[in-house]
Amino acid sequence: MVTIDGPAASGKSSVSRDLAQRLGWQWLSTGAFYRGIGYVAGEKSADLSNESGLVDLINEKDWKVVMTPERTQFFYKAKDVTDHISLEHVGDIASKISHYPEVRKHLLKAQRDMAHRGPGLVAEGRDCGTVVFPQAKVKIYLTAHSSSRAQRRSEEQGVSLQKTIETQKLRDEQDSSRKAAPLQVPEGAHVIDTSELNQQQVVDKVEELVRHTLGI
Ligand code: DC
Repeated sequence: MVTIDGPAASGKSSVSRDLAQRLGWQWLSTGAFYRGIGYVAGEKSADLSNESGLVDLINEKDWKVVMTPERTQFFYKAKDVTDHISLEHVGDIASKISHYPEVRKHLLKAQRDMAHRGPGLVAEGRDCGTVVFPQAKVKIYLTAHSSSRAQRRSEEQGVSLQKTIETQKLRDEQDSSRKAAPLQVPEGAHVIDTSELNQQQVVDKVEELVRHTLGI
């Protein structure tokens, strides 16, 4: 088990996905749970300030998460809505609802269940090394200057740099300041600053670290 945490656009999704492919392990992006429930909440015009209403949506269980090597898919009412959950405004809803302890608690079990389905798991998110999989043998924390992260995200999403800087600032504040499982560096994690590195360099570095630590 390897966990990779970090702020938005630190490169953790692509790095963790590539790492999982190199190791022949499963890959899980835990943001898909928050994004997916955020999407469902949006579809149902749910009140985002009503924590127990959001928990009810989770418990209705008309959603599921499926791991594939390329994407962590989210199905709602048996329909693949993965393209929708990737949108920036859904990420924003996800960030908002993720500060509710009950929402987190109800998604935790579903996330942990994913660990039993393969030879090994690379999981990425905000609290994978601290809360979801504290037993992980290797924990990585990716970080990057906010300007590099914004540049990356704005290219990915085709959104202006200025707008991306504003959204990212807000998201970082929300994710780091919440009381329930805030974004933080897990104890014993290897911190890697990706500002000056390209994706392949980061994956090489992480793979070496993992293989060395696990002796594989
Ligand atoms: O990594 P992402 O952009 O897909 O995550 C979207 C939001 O979901 C993020 O802003 C906060 C929340 N999230 C979380 O609280 N805990 C996680 N492990 C993953 C995501």
